[in-house]
Amino acid sequence: MNIKKQIFGHTREGQVVNLYTLTNDHGSVATITNYGGIVVSLLIPDRQGKLADVVLGFDSFEEYLTDPPYFGALIGRYANRIAQAKFTLQGIEYTLAQNDGDNHLHGGLQGFDKVIWNVEENSCSPEGAHLTLRYLSPDGEEGYPGNLTVTVTYTFTNKNALKIEYTASTDKETVLNLTNHSYFNLQGARSGKTVLDHEVMLNADRFTPGDAGLIPTGELRDIKGTPLDFTESTAIGARIQEEYDQLLAAGGYDHNWVLNKEHTGTLTLAAKVYEPVSGRIMEVHTTEPGIQFYTGNFLDGSITGKGKTIYHKNTGFCLETQHFPNSPNQPAFPSTALKPGEEYRQTTIYSFSHQG
Ligand code: GLA
Repeated sequence: MNIKKQIFGHTREGQVVNLYTLTNDHGSVATITNYGGIVVSLLIPDRQGKLADVVLGFDSFEEYLTDPPYFGALIGRYANRIAQAKFTLQGIEYTLAQNDGDNHLHGGLQGFDKVIWNVEENSCSPEGAHLTLRYLSPDGEEGYPGNLTVTVTYTFTNKNALKIEYTASTDKETVLNLTNHSYFNLQGARSGKTVLDHEVMLNADRFTPGDAGLIPTGELRDIKGTPLDFTESTAIGARIQEEYDQLLAAGGYDHNWVLNKEHTGTLTLAAKVYEPVSGRIMEVHTTEPGIQFYTGNFLDGSITGKGKTIYHKNTGFCLETQHFPNSPNQPAFPSTALKPGEEYRQTTIYSFSHQG
């Protein structure tokens, strides 16, 4: 097991950005950059022991500066959407950037996916290789109140799991919803294949239906009888074309599922994905109450990624663990407010194995 550091590239302002290579005792590899905390590659064995990179992204750093759709990145301050880019806290209305129609998406114009994170630590322990990143988001950044300190520790374990631990604190009440936006393709990000044959299980009996702009209406809808029922492992493509209003509005799956769990904050199984050709399996455990299952509906072939692979529609999927979209404007949803003196904590683990 080891961790290596190299220069990945330079920002347009000339700042150096590094790439950290975390190799575990099985020879599986995760590479992560301190720009946006992006997971650049994840080399995972298939049933024959053959490694393939299972996350979408680019070979060179410069391509990450072209405003890609959040490949591998840390998202903040608020993952997913805030309606009309506005919310009120303690009687004060805050206005954010409208970067998704009239709504606010993934932290704004320069979210946590586009900033340089300080590397606090890179080390190895018996569990695996650790990389700790820290970012201080100043009061007023992207319109959000409070100086916010965010720490993210990535651990690439000797059991082929990528564990992400987030903590944060603020000096003024704010809202916070952190996630990682990796796009997975368990057949390999260079396969050029869609993910429609991947079989997905989501540990959720309800989801939050959205309006035309994908803003939750406030309803928690039972998935039973809908194409959003993934309580039993089902191929992504099996029902994605059904004429169900929610699928039509999103062009596929792009919804928040309400995870079955007794208490927010307990680490439970959220999702399991199986890819039949390679035999690769990915499980997602999280402390969060929700998960955005997104099937790369906005990928349209206009982006060429690793190894000249063209990212067509549905060539990757995301499982973004999160609080529900637009929670700051939905008092009945679990709260995303963070007050001074409180500590935000989240743990999400993507674990890999294979069948056969
Ligand atoms: C999330 C959103 C999608 C889309 C992608 C990025 O998954 O829910 O609608 O914005 O991020 O393209």
